[in-house]
Amino acid sequence: MTALPKRNLDKSNAQFQRALKRLPLGVSSTFRYWGDDRTIYVHHGKGGRTWDIDGNNYVDYRLGYGPAILGYADDRVDAAASKGMEVGGVFALSTERELIVADRISRMVPAAELVRFSNSGTEAVMAALRLARAYTGREQYLLVEGGYHGLFDAAMWMSNMDEWDLGSNQDPELVPYGKGIPPTVKQLAHITPMNNYERLEDMFKKHGDKLAAMLIEPIQGNCCSIMAEVEYVRLARELCTKYGVMLIIDEVKSGFRVGKSGIQGLMGVTPDITTFAKAVANGYPISVVAGREEVMRHFRYGGASHGGTYTAHSVSLAAAEETLRILDETDALETIANYGESLKAGISKILDARNIVHSYTGHPSMFGLFFAETPPNNYRAWKTSDYSFYDTMAHYLHDLNIIVEPDSREPWFICEAHGKDPSCLTDTLNAVERAVDLVLEHGVMTE
Ligand SMILES: Cc1ncc(COP(=O)(O)O)c(C=O)c1O
Repeated sequence: MTALPKRNLDKSNAQFQRALKRLPLGVSSTFRYWGDDRTIYVHHGKGGRTWDIDGNNYVDYRLGYGPAILGYADDRVDAAASKGMEVGGVFALSTERELIVADRISRMVPAAELVRFSNSGTEAVMAALRLARAYTGREQYLLVEGGYHGLFDAAMWMSNMDEWDLGSNQDPELVPYGKGIPPTVKQLAHITPMNNYERLEDMFKKHGDKLAAMLIEPIQGNCCSIMAEVEYVRLARELCTKYGVMLIIDEVKSGFRVGKSGIQGLMGVTPDITTFAKAVANGYPISVVAGREEVMRHFRYGGASHGGTYTAHSVSLAAAEETLRILDETDALETIANYGESLKAGISKILDARNIVHSYTGHPSMFGLFFAETPPNNYRAWKTSDYSFYDTMAHYLHDLNIIVEPDSREPWFICEAHGKDPSCLTDTLNAVERAVDLVLEHGVMTE
Protein backbone atom coordinates (compact mmCIF):
# COMPACT_ATOMS: atom_id res chain seq x y z
CA MET A 1 0.00 0.00 0.00
CA THR A 2 1.22 3.51 -0.81
CA ALA A 3 1.99 5.49 2.33
CA LEU A 4 -0.40 8.33 3.05
CA PRO A 5 1.04 11.82 2.57
CA LYS A 6 1.86 13.77 5.69
CA ARG A 7 2.43 17.46 6.33
CA ASN A 8 4.19 18.93 9.30
CA LEU A 9 1.52 20.94 11.13
CA ASP A 10 3.26 21.19 14.50
CA LYS A 11 3.15 24.98 14.68
CA SER A 12 -0.45 25.21 13.46
CA ASN A 13 -1.52 22.55 15.95
CA ALA A 14 0.24 24.35 18.80
CA GLN A 15 -1.33 27.63 17.69
CA PHE A 16 -4.73 25.93 17.64
CA GLN A 17 -4.35 24.78 21.24
CA ARG A 18 -3.38 28.31 22.33
CA ALA A 19 -6.10 29.98 20.25
CA LEU A 20 -8.77 27.67 21.59
CA LYS A 21 -8.41 29.33 25.00
CA ARG A 22 -9.34 32.76 23.60
CA LEU A 23 -11.28 32.21 20.35
CA PRO A 24 -14.28 29.85 20.00
CA LEU A 25 -13.02 26.82 18.04
CA GLY A 26 -9.68 28.63 17.82
CA VAL A 27 -10.77 30.61 14.76
CA SER A 28 -12.65 33.76 13.72
CA SER A 29 -15.08 32.02 11.38
CA THR A 30 -16.50 28.58 12.07
CA PHE A 31 -15.69 27.43 8.51
CA ARG A 32 -11.97 27.89 9.22
CA TYR A 33 -11.98 25.10 11.76
CA TRP A 34 -10.91 21.91 9.96
CA GLY A 35 -10.45 19.65 12.97
CA ASP A 36 -8.24 19.77 16.06
CA ASP A 37 -5.15 18.61 14.17
CA ARG A 38 -5.87 19.96 10.66
CA THR A 39 -6.75 23.60 11.29
CA ILE A 40 -4.06 25.65 9.61
CA TYR A 41 -2.90 29.17 10.42
CA VAL A 42 -1.69 31.33 7.56
CA HIS A 43 1.69 33.01 7.55
CA HIS A 44 1.09 34.86 4.30
CA GLY A 45 -0.25 34.57 0.78
CA LYS A 46 1.25 35.73 -2.49
CA GLY A 47 -0.19 35.25 -5.96
CA GLY A 48 -2.03 31.93 -6.19
CA ARG A 49 -0.24 30.45 -3.18
CA THR A 50 -0.60 30.45 0.60
CA TRP A 51 2.06 29.62 3.19
CA ASP A 52 1.08 28.32 6.61
CA ILE A 53 3.07 28.98 9.79
CA ASP A 54 4.82 25.59 9.46
CA GLY A 55 6.19 26.71 6.08
CA ASN A 56 3.93 24.48 3.98
CA ASN A 57 3.35 26.14 0.61
CA TYR A 58 -0.02 25.49 -1.01
CA VAL A 59 -1.55 26.26 -4.38
CA ASP A 60 -4.76 27.84 -3.12
CA TYR A 61 -8.11 27.35 -4.88
CA ARG A 62 -10.24 28.74 -2.09
CA LEU A 63 -8.78 32.22 -2.39
CA GLY A 64 -10.66 33.28 0.72
CA TYR A 65 -13.90 32.00 -0.92
CA GLY A 66 -13.21 34.05 -4.00
CA PRO A 67 -12.01 37.58 -3.26
CA ALA A 68 -8.39 37.26 -4.41
CA ILE A 69 -9.35 37.45 -8.08
CA LEU A 70 -5.91 38.67 -9.13
CA GLY A 71 -4.00 36.76 -6.45
CA TYR A 72 -2.96 37.46 -2.88
CA ALA A 73 -1.04 40.64 -2.14
CA ASP A 74 -1.25 41.89 -5.70
CA ASP A 75 1.39 44.63 -6.02
CA ARG A 76 -0.78 46.89 -8.20
CA VAL A 77 -3.75 46.78 -5.85
CA ASP A 78 -1.68 47.05 -2.70
CA ALA A 79 0.11 50.14 -4.03
CA ALA A 80 -3.27 51.74 -4.73
CA ALA A 81 -4.53 50.75 -1.28
CA SER A 82 -1.49 52.39 0.36
CA LYS A 83 -2.34 55.57 -1.46
CA GLY A 84 -5.90 55.18 -0.23
CA MET A 85 -4.58 55.04 3.32
CA GLU A 86 -3.17 58.55 2.88
CA VAL A 87 -6.74 59.80 2.43
CA GLY A 88 -7.39 58.97 6.05
CA GLY A 89 -9.89 56.12 6.39
CA VAL A 90 -13.48 57.04 7.18
CA PHE A 91 -14.93 60.45 7.96
CA ALA A 92 -18.70 59.93 8.13
CA LEU A 93 -18.47 62.07 5.01
CA SER A 94 -18.01 61.26 1.33
CA THR A 95 -14.91 61.28 -0.86
CA GLU A 96 -14.59 61.86 -4.59
CA ARG A 97 -13.40 58.33 -5.30
CA GLU A 98 -16.87 56.91 -4.50
CA LEU A 99 -18.19 58.36 -7.73
CA ILE A 100 -15.19 57.20 -9.74
CA VAL A 101 -15.71 53.61 -8.59
CA ALA A 102 -19.49 53.82 -8.96
CA ASP A 103 -19.07 55.10 -12.53
CA ARG A 104 -16.79 52.18 -13.37
CA ILE A 105 -19.29 49.68 -11.92
CA SER A 106 -22.12 51.30 -13.87
CA ARG A 107 -20.14 51.11 -17.10
CA MET A 108 -19.30 47.45 -16.52
CA VAL A 109 -22.76 46.37 -15.32
CA PRO A 110 -25.65 48.10 -17.11
CA ALA A 111 -28.19 47.12 -14.39
CA ALA A 112 -26.15 49.13 -11.87
CA GLU A 113 -27.74 52.47 -12.73
CA LEU A 114 -27.16 53.71 -9.19
CA VAL A 115 -24.67 52.36 -6.70
CA ARG A 116 -24.21 52.25 -2.93
CA PHE A 117 -21.27 50.69 -1.07
CA SER A 118 -21.28 48.38 1.93
CA ASN A 119 -18.55 46.38 3.63
CA SER A 120 -19.41 42.71 3.16
CA GLY A 121 -21.60 40.48 1.04
CA THR A 122 -23.96 40.01 3.96
CA GLU A 123 -24.40 43.75 4.38
CA ALA A 124 -25.00 44.31 0.68
CA VAL A 125 -27.67 41.60 0.41
CA MET A 126 -29.27 42.77 3.65
CA ALA A 127 -29.49 46.26 2.16
CA ALA A 128 -30.86 44.85 -1.11
CA LEU A 129 -33.66 43.00 0.66
CA ARG A 130 -34.50 46.04 2.77
CA LEU A 131 -34.60 48.18 -0.34
CA ALA A 132 -36.94 45.70 -2.05
CA ARG A 133 -39.21 45.79 0.97
CA ALA A 134 -39.14 49.58 1.12
CA TYR A 135 -39.94 49.85 -2.58
CA THR A 136 -42.73 47.24 -2.69
CA GLY A 137 -44.17 47.69 0.80
CA ARG A 138 -44.15 43.88 1.13
CA GLU A 139 -42.31 41.63 3.58
CA GLN A 140 -42.03 38.11 2.15
CA TYR A 141 -39.26 36.86 -0.09
CA LEU A 142 -38.31 33.88 -2.19
CA LEU A 143 -35.04 31.97 -1.95
CA VAL A 144 -33.71 29.29 -4.30
CA GLU A 145 -32.47 25.97 -2.89
CA GLY A 146 -28.68 25.79 -2.72
CA GLY A 147 -28.28 29.58 -2.66
CA TYR A 148 -26.42 31.39 0.09
CA HIS A 149 -26.83 35.09 0.74
CA GLY A 150 -24.95 35.78 3.94
CA LEU A 151 -25.27 35.62 7.67
CA PHE A 152 -28.29 37.81 8.46
CA ASP A 153 -31.38 36.09 9.87
CA ALA A 154 -33.56 36.41 6.76
CA ALA A 155 -30.95 34.69 4.59
CA MET A 156 -30.16 31.87 6.99
CA TRP A 157 -32.82 29.42 5.83
CA MET A 158 -32.10 26.36 3.76
CA SER A 159 -33.63 23.13 2.60
CA ASN A 160 -32.53 20.35 4.88
CA MET A 161 -30.89 18.15 2.26
CA ASP A 162 -28.94 16.11 4.82
CA GLU A 163 -32.10 14.62 6.25
CA TRP A 164 -34.15 14.62 3.07
CA ASP A 165 -35.46 11.28 1.90
CA LEU A 166 -34.77 11.24 -1.81
CA GLY A 167 -37.48 8.68 -2.48
CA SER A 168 -40.23 10.64 -0.72
CA ASN A 169 -42.66 12.94 -2.49
CA GLN A 170 -42.16 15.55 0.19
CA ASP A 171 -40.07 18.70 -0.16
CA PRO A 172 -37.09 18.95 2.15
CA GLU A 173 -37.85 20.89 5.32
CA LEU A 174 -36.96 24.59 5.49
CA VAL A 175 -34.57 24.83 8.42
CA PRO A 176 -32.29 27.53 9.84
CA TYR A 177 -28.55 27.22 9.23
CA GLY A 178 -28.03 27.01 12.96
CA LYS A 179 -29.24 28.10 16.36
CA GLY A 180 -30.09 31.69 17.25
CA ILE A 181 -32.21 32.39 14.16
CA PRO A 182 -35.75 33.20 15.30
CA PRO A 183 -38.34 30.73 13.92
CA THR A 184 -40.73 33.67 13.44
CA VAL A 185 -38.55 34.87 10.55
CA LYS A 186 -39.39 31.65 8.72
CA GLN A 187 -42.95 32.86 8.17
CA LEU A 188 -41.65 35.39 5.66
CA ALA A 189 -39.37 33.03 3.71
CA HIS A 190 -40.24 30.75 0.81
CA ILE A 191 -37.89 28.46 -1.07
CA THR A 192 -38.03 26.78 -4.46
CA PRO A 193 -35.84 24.17 -6.23
CA MET A 194 -33.66 25.71 -8.94
CA ASN A 195 -34.36 24.97 -12.60
CA ASN A 196 -37.84 23.69 -11.81
CA TYR A 197 -40.02 25.96 -13.95
CA GLU A 198 -43.37 24.59 -12.84
CA ARG A 199 -42.60 25.00 -9.17
CA LEU A 200 -41.46 28.56 -9.76
CA GLU A 201 -44.68 29.47 -11.54
CA ASP A 202 -46.73 27.82 -8.79
CA MET A 203 -44.79 29.74 -6.16
CA PHE A 204 -45.59 33.06 -7.83
CA LYS A 205 -49.24 32.12 -8.35
CA LYS A 206 -49.53 31.33 -4.67
CA HIS A 207 -47.39 34.04 -3.08
CA GLY A 208 -46.39 36.47 -5.85
CA ASP A 209 -48.54 39.36 -4.63
CA LYS A 210 -46.96 39.17 -1.17
CA LEU A 211 -43.33 38.86 -2.24
CA ALA A 212 -40.98 41.83 -1.97
CA ALA A 213 -38.10 40.02 -3.66
CA MET A 214 -36.76 36.89 -5.24
CA LEU A 215 -33.08 36.32 -4.46
CA ILE A 216 -31.08 34.20 -6.84
CA GLU A 217 -27.45 33.29 -7.42
CA PRO A 218 -27.63 32.17 -11.07
CA ILE A 219 -24.31 30.46 -10.52
CA GLN A 220 -24.47 28.92 -7.06
CA GLY A 221 -21.12 29.82 -5.59
CA ASN A 222 -21.94 27.95 -2.40
CA CYS A 223 -23.39 24.88 -4.06
CA CYS A 224 -20.81 23.49 -6.46
CA SER A 225 -21.32 26.35 -8.93
CA ILE A 226 -24.52 24.73 -10.13
CA MET A 227 -25.90 26.99 -12.84
CA ALA A 228 -29.42 28.19 -13.33
CA GLU A 229 -30.55 27.66 -16.90
CA VAL A 230 -30.80 30.95 -18.79
CA GLU A 231 -34.48 30.23 -19.48
CA TYR A 232 -35.06 29.73 -15.77
CA VAL A 233 -33.60 33.11 -14.87
CA ARG A 234 -35.58 34.68 -17.71
CA LEU A 235 -38.75 33.12 -16.32
CA ALA A 236 -37.86 34.49 -12.88
CA ARG A 237 -37.44 37.93 -14.49
CA GLU A 238 -40.84 37.68 -16.22
CA LEU A 239 -42.63 36.51 -13.11
CA CYS A 240 -41.03 39.21 -10.96
CA THR A 241 -42.13 41.85 -13.46
CA LYS A 242 -45.64 40.41 -13.66
CA TYR A 243 -46.12 40.30 -9.88
CA GLY A 244 -44.23 43.48 -9.00
CA VAL A 245 -41.47 41.57 -7.21
CA MET A 246 -37.86 42.82 -7.10
CA LEU A 247 -35.46 40.40 -8.78
CA ILE A 248 -32.23 40.47 -6.74
CA ILE A 249 -29.35 38.81 -8.55
CA ASP A 250 -26.73 38.10 -5.92
CA GLU A 251 -23.32 38.24 -7.57
CA VAL A 252 -21.26 38.40 -4.41
CA LYS A 253 -19.17 35.50 -5.73
CA SER A 254 -19.74 35.61 -9.50
CA GLY A 255 -19.50 39.38 -9.94
CA PHE A 256 -16.42 40.71 -11.79
CA ARG A 257 -15.24 37.09 -11.96
CA VAL A 258 -17.21 35.17 -14.58
CA GLY A 259 -17.28 38.21 -16.83
CA LYS A 260 -16.99 41.99 -16.69
CA SER A 261 -20.75 42.31 -16.28
CA GLY A 262 -21.09 39.19 -14.15
CA ILE A 263 -23.39 36.25 -14.71
CA GLN A 264 -26.27 38.64 -15.42
CA GLY A 265 -24.31 39.95 -18.41
CA LEU A 266 -23.53 36.44 -19.66
CA MET A 267 -27.19 35.47 -19.34
CA GLY A 268 -28.60 38.75 -20.60
CA VAL A 269 -30.99 39.15 -17.66
CA THR A 270 -31.43 42.52 -15.96
CA PRO A 271 -32.19 42.44 -12.23
CA ASP A 272 -33.90 45.25 -10.33
CA ILE A 273 -31.23 45.07 -7.64
CA THR A 274 -27.86 43.37 -7.67
CA THR A 275 -25.09 42.77 -5.18
CA PHE A 276 -21.32 42.39 -5.56
CA ALA A 277 -18.51 41.86 -3.08
CA LYS A 278 -15.62 39.44 -3.22
CA ALA A 279 -13.76 40.29 -6.42
CA VAL A 280 -14.50 44.02 -6.27
CA ALA A 281 -11.30 44.95 -4.45
CA ASN A 282 -9.16 41.79 -4.55
CA GLY A 283 -9.87 41.07 -0.90
CA TYR A 284 -10.11 44.53 0.64
CA PRO A 285 -13.46 44.74 2.43
CA ILE A 286 -16.03 46.46 0.27
CA SER A 287 -19.31 45.41 -1.30
CA VAL A 288 -21.88 46.92 -3.61
CA VAL A 289 -25.63 47.15 -3.77
CA ALA A 290 -26.75 48.55 -7.08
CA GLY A 291 -29.77 48.64 -9.36
CA ARG A 292 -32.51 50.44 -11.14
CA GLU A 293 -32.58 54.18 -10.45
CA GLU A 294 -36.24 54.32 -9.45
CA VAL A 295 -35.67 51.58 -6.88
CA MET A 296 -32.30 52.79 -5.62
CA ARG A 297 -33.66 56.29 -4.94
CA HIS A 298 -35.51 54.70 -2.01
CA PHE A 299 -32.22 54.85 -0.11
CA ARG A 300 -33.11 58.21 1.46
CA TYR A 301 -34.36 59.85 4.62
CA GLY A 302 -37.79 58.37 5.25
CA GLY A 303 -37.01 55.47 2.90
CA ALA A 304 -34.71 52.46 3.32
CA SER A 305 -31.94 53.06 5.86
CA HIS A 306 -28.45 52.40 4.60
CA GLY A 307 -24.96 53.33 5.68
CA GLY A 308 -22.54 52.29 8.38
CA THR A 309 -19.41 53.67 9.98
CA TYR A 310 -16.91 51.92 7.72
CA THR A 311 -18.84 52.26 4.47
CA ALA A 312 -16.66 53.41 1.54
CA HIS A 313 -13.43 53.28 3.52
CA SER A 314 -10.67 55.09 1.63
CA VAL A 315 -8.36 52.04 1.54
CA SER A 316 -11.00 49.67 0.19
CA LEU A 317 -12.24 52.21 -2.33
CA ALA A 318 -8.76 52.78 -3.70
CA ALA A 319 -8.25 49.01 -3.94
CA ALA A 320 -11.59 48.69 -5.72
CA GLU A 321 -10.69 51.41 -8.20
CA GLU A 322 -7.49 49.61 -9.18
CA THR A 323 -8.93 46.07 -9.15
CA LEU A 324 -11.87 47.03 -11.34
CA ARG A 325 -9.56 48.94 -13.69
CA ILE A 326 -7.46 45.82 -14.14
CA LEU A 327 -10.48 43.57 -14.63
CA ASP A 328 -12.05 46.00 -17.08
CA GLU A 329 -9.04 47.09 -19.10
CA THR A 330 -6.69 44.08 -19.19
CA ASP A 331 -7.07 40.43 -20.19
CA ALA A 332 -7.05 39.26 -16.53
CA LEU A 333 -10.45 37.56 -16.76
CA GLU A 334 -9.35 35.74 -19.91
CA THR A 335 -6.16 34.55 -18.18
CA ILE A 336 -8.31 33.28 -15.30
CA ALA A 337 -10.78 31.45 -17.55
CA ASN A 338 -7.98 29.91 -19.65
CA TYR A 339 -6.24 28.60 -16.56
CA GLY A 340 -9.54 27.13 -15.33
CA GLU A 341 -9.99 25.35 -18.66
CA SER A 342 -6.42 23.97 -18.59
CA LEU A 343 -6.90 22.77 -15.04
CA LYS A 344 -10.17 21.04 -15.89
CA ALA A 345 -8.60 19.42 -18.95
CA GLY A 346 -5.64 18.21 -16.87
CA ILE A 347 -7.89 16.76 -14.16
CA SER A 348 -10.04 15.06 -16.81
CA LYS A 349 -6.98 13.45 -18.38
CA ILE A 350 -6.06 11.94 -15.02
CA LEU A 351 -9.60 10.73 -14.31
CA ASP A 352 -10.21 9.44 -17.85
CA ALA A 353 -7.02 7.38 -17.69
CA ARG A 354 -8.56 5.62 -14.68
CA ASN A 355 -12.04 5.35 -16.21
CA ILE A 356 -13.49 7.59 -13.51
CA VAL A 357 -16.74 9.13 -14.67
CA HIS A 358 -16.89 12.81 -13.89
CA SER A 359 -18.24 16.17 -14.99
CA TYR A 360 -17.93 19.87 -14.16
CA THR A 361 -20.34 22.62 -13.28
CA GLY A 362 -20.13 26.38 -13.36
CA HIS A 363 -17.68 28.67 -15.06
CA PRO A 364 -13.95 27.95 -15.55
CA SER A 365 -13.14 30.73 -13.05
CA MET A 366 -15.23 29.01 -10.34
CA PHE A 367 -16.03 25.40 -11.15
CA GLY A 368 -17.36 22.34 -9.37
CA LEU A 369 -16.09 18.80 -9.98
CA PHE A 370 -18.48 15.85 -9.84
CA PHE A 371 -18.08 12.14 -9.91
CA ALA A 372 -21.18 11.58 -12.03
CA GLU A 373 -21.78 11.57 -15.77
CA THR A 374 -23.90 14.69 -15.74
CA PRO A 375 -23.52 17.45 -13.20
CA PRO A 376 -26.43 18.23 -10.89
CA ASN A 377 -28.79 20.96 -12.05
CA ASN A 378 -30.01 21.79 -8.58
CA TYR A 379 -29.26 21.16 -4.93
CA ARG A 380 -31.53 18.12 -4.80
CA ALA A 381 -29.57 16.49 -7.61
CA TRP A 382 -26.30 17.19 -5.76
CA LYS A 383 -27.54 14.82 -3.09
CA THR A 384 -27.44 11.96 -5.62
CA SER A 385 -23.84 12.51 -6.70
CA ASP A 386 -20.94 10.64 -5.11
CA TYR A 387 -19.43 13.48 -3.13
CA SER A 388 -17.62 11.10 -0.76
CA PHE A 389 -14.97 10.50 -3.46
CA TYR A 390 -14.51 14.24 -3.80
CA ASP A 391 -14.38 14.86 -0.06
CA THR A 392 -11.72 12.16 0.42
CA MET A 393 -9.69 13.50 -2.49
CA ALA A 394 -9.86 17.01 -0.98
CA HIS A 395 -8.52 15.64 2.31
CA TYR A 396 -5.47 14.17 0.53
CA LEU A 397 -5.01 17.31 -1.56
CA HIS A 398 -4.47 19.33 1.62
CA ASP A 399 -1.70 16.94 2.64
CA LEU A 400 -0.27 17.30 -0.87
CA ASN A 401 -0.17 21.09 -0.57
CA ILE A 402 -3.26 22.02 -2.56
CA ILE A 403 -5.97 23.96 -0.77
CA VAL A 404 -9.51 23.26 -1.89
CA GLU A 405 -12.60 23.38 0.27
CA PRO A 406 -13.04 20.11 2.19
CA ASP A 407 -16.73 20.15 1.19
CA SER A 408 -17.63 19.53 -2.46
CA ARG A 409 -20.23 22.29 -2.34
CA GLU A 410 -17.55 24.97 -2.55
CA PRO A 411 -16.17 25.52 -6.07
CA TRP A 412 -12.54 25.84 -7.10
CA PHE A 413 -11.68 29.51 -7.47
CA ILE A 414 -9.05 30.67 -9.96
CA CYS A 415 -7.05 33.89 -9.82
CA GLU A 416 -4.97 35.70 -12.43
CA ALA A 417 -1.75 34.78 -10.60
CA HIS A 418 -2.46 31.04 -11.12
CA GLY A 419 -2.39 31.70 -14.85
CA LYS A 420 0.86 33.64 -14.65
CA ASP A 421 2.78 31.00 -12.68
CA PRO A 422 3.13 27.75 -14.67
CA SER A 423 4.20 25.82 -11.56
CA CYS A 424 0.68 26.21 -10.13
CA LEU A 425 -0.76 23.99 -12.83
CA THR A 426 1.95 21.32 -12.75
CA ASP A 427 2.01 21.16 -8.95
CA THR A 428 -1.77 20.86 -8.87
CA LEU A 429 -2.03 18.13 -11.48
CA ASN A 430 0.75 16.09 -9.87
CA ALA A 431 -1.09 16.32 -6.56
CA VAL A 432 -4.49 15.51 -8.09
CA GLU A 433 -3.03 12.38 -9.71
CA ARG A 434 -1.62 11.21 -6.39
CA ALA A 435 -4.80 12.07 -4.49
CA VAL A 436 -7.01 10.19 -6.94
CA ASP A 437 -4.77 7.12 -6.72
CA LEU A 438 -4.86 7.30 -2.94
CA VAL A 439 -8.66 7.34 -2.94
CA LEU A 440 -8.70 4.39 -5.34
CA GLU A 441 -6.25 2.47 -3.19
CA HIS A 442 -7.51 3.31 0.29
CA GLY A 443 -11.21 3.87 -0.43
CA VAL A 444 -13.39 6.79 0.54
CA MET A 445 -13.48 8.15 4.07
CA THR A 446 -16.85 8.11 5.69
CA GLU A 447 -16.16 10.60 8.46
C1 LIG B 1 -23.67 34.73 -3.03
C2 LIG B 1 -23.26 35.23 -1.69
N1 LIG B 1 -23.97 36.19 -1.09
C3 LIG B 1 -23.62 36.69 0.11
C4 LIG B 1 -22.52 36.22 0.77
C5 LIG B 1 -22.09 36.80 2.08
O1 LIG B 1 -20.91 37.50 1.93
P1 LIG B 1 -19.95 37.84 3.17
O2 LIG B 1 -19.36 36.54 3.60
O3 LIG B 1 -18.96 38.79 2.61
O4 LIG B 1 -20.78 38.46 4.22
C6 LIG B 1 -21.74 35.22 0.18
C7 LIG B 1 -20.55 34.68 0.86
O5 LIG B 1 -19.95 33.72 0.50
C8 LIG B 1 -22.12 34.71 -1.08
O6 LIG B 1 -21.41 33.76 -1.70
